[in-house]
Amino acid sequence: MTAMTPIRPQPRPEILAIDAYVPGKSRVAGVAKIRKLSSNESPLGASPKAIEAFRASAGDLALYPDGSAAALREAIGRRYGLEPSRIICGNGSDELLALLAHAFLRPGDEGLHSEYGFLEYPICIRAAGGVPVVAKESDKTASVDALLAKANARTKIVYLANPNNPTGTYIPYSEVKRLQAGLPADCLLVIDAAYAEYVTCNDYSAGVELAAICENVVMTRTFSKIHGLANLRIGWAYGPPLVLDALNRIRGPFNLNGPAIAAGVASLADTGHIEAAIEHNLRWLPWLAESISALGIEITPSVGNFLLLSFENGAGRTAANADAFLSRRGFILRAMGAYGLPDSLRLTVGDEEANHGIVAALAEFMRSDRG
Ligand SMILES: Cc1ncc(COP(=O)(O)O)c(C=O)c1O
Repeated sequence: MTAMTPIRPQPRPEILAIDAYVPGKSRVAGVAKIRKLSSNESPLGASPKAIEAFRASAGDLALYPDGSAAALREAIGRRYGLEPSRIICGNGSDELLALLAHAFLRPGDEGLHSEYGFLEYPICIRAAGGVPVVAKESDKTASVDALLAKANARTKIVYLANPNNPTGTYIPYSEVKRLQAGLPADCLLVIDAAYAEYVTCNDYSAGVELAAICENVVMTRTFSKIHGLANLRIGWAYGPPLVLDALNRIRGPFNLNGPAIAAGVASLADTGHIEAAIEHNLRWLPWLAESISALGIEITPSVGNFLLLSFENGAGRTAANADAFLSRRGFILRAMGAYGLPDSLRLTVGDEEANHGIVAALAEFMRSDRG
């Protein structure tokens, strides 16, 4: 008797080629006090005004939210001087990054990203039936030359995280403009500026101006980082009408929930909280970078709210051993194997206690005989 193959639903083969995104850990078995420094969350938490607005919306849980998130789009428009009709909100910027691939890639089209670009990009490209193409980086920084060398008539979307996660590096606005100018006109450039608020370099721009004037540029932003609202899943994009129109056709009709809309509006109004988060990062990012490199651990210069630490393999002081050593002491960092950086760990800037604690723990690790 021949074995019968059961007939059942089959996902598209390209879906099964996707390695699911693995979020940062938040627990270690047997360790009571955890400092989660693995997901680039804000150590200052959400604005008290956002929390109040969230609570105040509890009475409306039975009602559908405003599907167009008009109040939030208007608040974003006021804050950044943008036309609200050219803003779309998403359930995290993740949702928008995925919708962009679904809207602009045909099966077999190429989607381009840089070597250590955010891991969601190849997932979004594959899920939409596209083929991810990777451009080499120089010094863990996106290379416009390498990206342009890989762009061709089949390239229909380019994702650029600026600053990039997990490296923390950025490219100046002049380079972003050079990238746009060199891409085919029918190729969409997605500038993912999730960490824009942390950047204080004069030659940086999140890409608002380019998205305002170019038909093939869209900028995405998030409330998950500087606003400390990762749990509510709020992202937004600003771009040309043709992009907005396409995304509005395929997004979930109520993709943002009411409490998220209310908290987002309140958070934008609390400029003091955002300033405090920027100040905190400006104080602790360089402190961590200096203290950790003084221990002999290589640091990639970062403009985000996180640092990439690279370990040499000598004397058992590998990234994997460091990860295990730190976890036992309650410090959770992000392992970087999935990014092709097995010798690295990513550390989020924490609160004062966590920052002192992680430096002390790393010093202990570097002094130890073996991890
Ligand atoms: C570069 C980058 N883009 C987008 C996101 C997604 O953010 P969210 O979906 O929380 O808005 C992240 C989150 O870590 C990120 O690092």
